[in-house]
Amino acid sequence: MASVSRRSLLALAAALPVLGRLDWAFASPPPTQPDKVLLNYNESPYGPSDAARAAMQRGIATCGRYPYPDMYALAALFAQQQGINEENVAVFAGSMAALRYAVLAFTSPTRSLVMAAPSYEVPRQAAESHKAPVHEVSLDAQHAHDVTAMLAADPQAGMLYLCNPNNPTGTLTPTQAIGHALSSKPKGSVLVVDEAYIDFCDAPNCVGWVKDHDDLLVLRTFSKIYGMAGARLGLAIGHPALLERLAVFGGDNVPAGSSLLGARASLEEATLLAQRKALNARVRDETVAWLNARGFTCTASQSNCFMIDVQQPAEPVVARLAAQNVLVGRVWKNWPQWVRVTVGSQQEMQRFREVFAAQVA
Ligand SMILES: Cc1ncc(COP(=O)(O)O)c(C=O)c1O
Repeated sequence: MASVSRRSLLALAAALPVLGRLDWAFASPPPTQPDKVLLNYNESPYGPSDAARAAMQRGIATCGRYPYPDMYALAALFAQQQGINEENVAVFAGSMAALRYAVLAFTSPTRSLVMAAPSYEVPRQAAESHKAPVHEVSLDAQHAHDVTAMLAADPQAGMLYLCNPNNPTGTLTPTQAIGHALSSKPKGSVLVVDEAYIDFCDAPNCVGWVKDHDDLLVLRTFSKIYGMAGARLGLAIGHPALLERLAVFGGDNVPAGSSLLGARASLEEATLLAQRKALNARVRDETVAWLNARGFTCTASQSNCFMIDVQQPAEPVVARLAAQNVLVGRVWKNWPQWVRVTVGSQQEMQRFREVFAAQVA
């Protein structure tokens, strides 16, 4: 198995001169469930980069102390790279925590949450947990956020959530539409733009906008392209007063020192993002082309996941693939014939194709 995977990666390397050396791809972590192909949580098949792993090892020795200096150093590095101020960046143990706190801070029983469907469910769950109304607005025909309908959903909205690229579809919402949401949203509301997957695509990001807008929060994570989901590290970017409103719910929920050092090492790697982005796009587009050739429609993903219209109830399809140790999903309530698939490594997607062909196609 190891030699097969090494051979297929070598073939890929030969075909992909733009990617340069692929040593980091060979160094994939030992799988936690070796007999399973895990395409169900939008994790990275490659794990932390070599430099991040070395930094995380060094970080173990720092764990006798509280991690605040390393936390501020990470925020400062990110701020410097993005051309914003350090005080605009707050670090959390995963962006999911920051997102939950944002919902708790900006919505209430009288100030609703407006979001897309299908989209990432955490904000809806957080709003429901404290009895804030939720307005879910279907994606438009291009599977972008329907910003016009979102703006019309509730003049009393407290928070608009926009995931770009969207999870689960992987599709983009035009930057101009996001700008329109920011300038036209209900008075007193906050726009939260979740950029968990932004580094997989070429679209402009919204981080720089926080310099001029105190009602915009942008979220980033090290769980996706940086392959550090288990290290729990996310960033909230916004006006310091907005970040204060999150901190009251869990400003002390910070990652371990080794995670912080790993994240810093990841940001300092000049070629990592371009390599991983190119490899993900290639494997994703090959898989989608294979599915299209068999008559299956997929979303026009720019991310590390996409959805397939399986032309039948999707839940039983998920179960059939799982029985063959290929885990995909989830299925969203308003798209019952579509299933989300994470883009894994070349060999994982080869196995996905074999099982999909036998069970579905
Ligand atoms: C859109 C989106 N935001 C946030 C998260 C949470 O990321 P983290 O691992 O940083 O908590 C995820 C995880 O899948 C996600 O898909």
